[in-house]
Amino acid sequence: MDFQNSLEFAKQLDAQDPLAKYRNEFHFPQVNGKNVIYFTGNSLGLQPKRTQKFVDDVMQDWRELGVEGHFYAEKPWWDYHERLAEGLAKIVGAKKEEVSVMNTLTVNLHLLMVSFYRPKGKRIKILCEEKAFPSDQYMLQSQARFHGFDPDEVIVEVKKREGEHFWRTEDILDKINEVGEELALVLMGGVNYYNGQVLDMEAITQTGKAFGAKVGWDLAHGVGNIKLDLHDWGADFAAWCSYKYMNSGPGNASGVYVHESYLDQKDIPRFEGWWGTKKETRFLMQPEFDPIETADAWQLSNPPILSVAPYLASLELFDEVGMDALIEKQQLIVAYLEFILGEIDKEVDSSFEIITPKERGCQLSVFLHGEGRPLFDYLMTNGVITDWREPNVIRLAAAPFYCSYSDMYNFGQILKKGILGK
Ligand SMILES: Cc1ncc(COP(=O)(O)O)c(C=O)c1O
Repeated sequence: MDFQNSLEFAKQLDAQDPLAKYRNEFHFPQVNGKNVIYFTGNSLGLQPKRTQKFVDDVMQDWRELGVEGHFYAEKPWWDYHERLAEGLAKIVGAKKEEVSVMNTLTVNLHLLMVSFYRPKGKRIKILCEEKAFPSDQYMLQSQARFHGFDPDEVIVEVKKREGEHFWRTEDILDKINEVGEELALVLMGGVNYYNGQVLDMEAITQTGKAFGAKVGWDLAHGVGNIKLDLHDWGADFAAWCSYKYMNSGPGNASGVYVHESYLDQKDIPRFEGWWGTKKETRFLMQPEFDPIETADAWQLSNPPILSVAPYLASLELFDEVGMDALIEKQQLIVAYLEFILGEIDKEVDSSFEIITPKERGCQLSVFLHGEGRPLFDYLMTNGVITDWREPNVIRLAAAPFYCSYSDMYNFGQILKKGILGK
């Protein structure tokens, strides 16, 4: 499509946008009395208006039923979380049984490491990307130490090439090949938080598995953003949070995926709790753990219903729209954002550079040459919510649920003023 840097053109795209009506499903923060242009759905998605009712319903059931709500609430709490599995499975490309909701992301990665990082003999190494999200680095280092290893000896990082801002698939596959029989686990961020790159998860999963390693994914930036096919790719496990593109609220519950081939393995190493044991016999309070034959076997505690309720509200929206439609809009709106950035860059004589490669989802990361921080502050005070990453990067996520094409145009105008005014 031939884009134009004009409000009229952006409005035309909005008028043709089949998802335009969903913008009104969300609450927007205000700056100077106006809705902001919200680019931080990759950090914390906006609140869907319907979420309030889901939370209110739980509060009402609790108020009116007390403990009886576990079994007699309109959506009983004891199996409330099961309502999320089907919708989430569609989003991550899994079978319903392979998905569960519990805890938070870093906690779940630790729990999944118990099952899937089983160093033995010389097969002890873990492959990840350099500068993975810090929590993942801490998680991996502490797991290595927990097993009695020096993290520097077992964690192998795939580096970007000198002068490049992205990872090359061939470099990742070559590294897997190089580590070979020493490789116990590949654990990477499927969509990188910093540069927005979508890794070739299929090729990496298949290569890692061909070398006899387990392969897991941190999908914090992938879920609700890009097309995922975890089951067909053969990934062993994955975990994600729900507060970014899934719009489920700050710090909210995490999702996990465990490939079906593990679901009937009663003796798989795993940390266990009463919510992982079969619900038919759970309340007999027997000493034996009888695992549910789904990813729910990894559940420890009874889930926090007040957290799971917003997640269910959000999944209802995803179910209505579907990932295909979201991705279709995402590709167009991100291409339009890229175009707008290019136009402004020409007008202001090159003061920034997009470091996100073509393999991308909603996010474009923009490296600001020169003094970036004042420009970031200017955007924020003028109603453009982005985020800042050291040393000089702003990340812009155009979430298709609530961002409009006019937002992209208006952002360009504010950006230009911010640069020229400095
Ligand atoms: C890629 C990635 N991994 C892990 C985390 C940590 O998530 P949590 O604080 O929910 O454990 C985040 C948080 O933003 C993230 O972006």
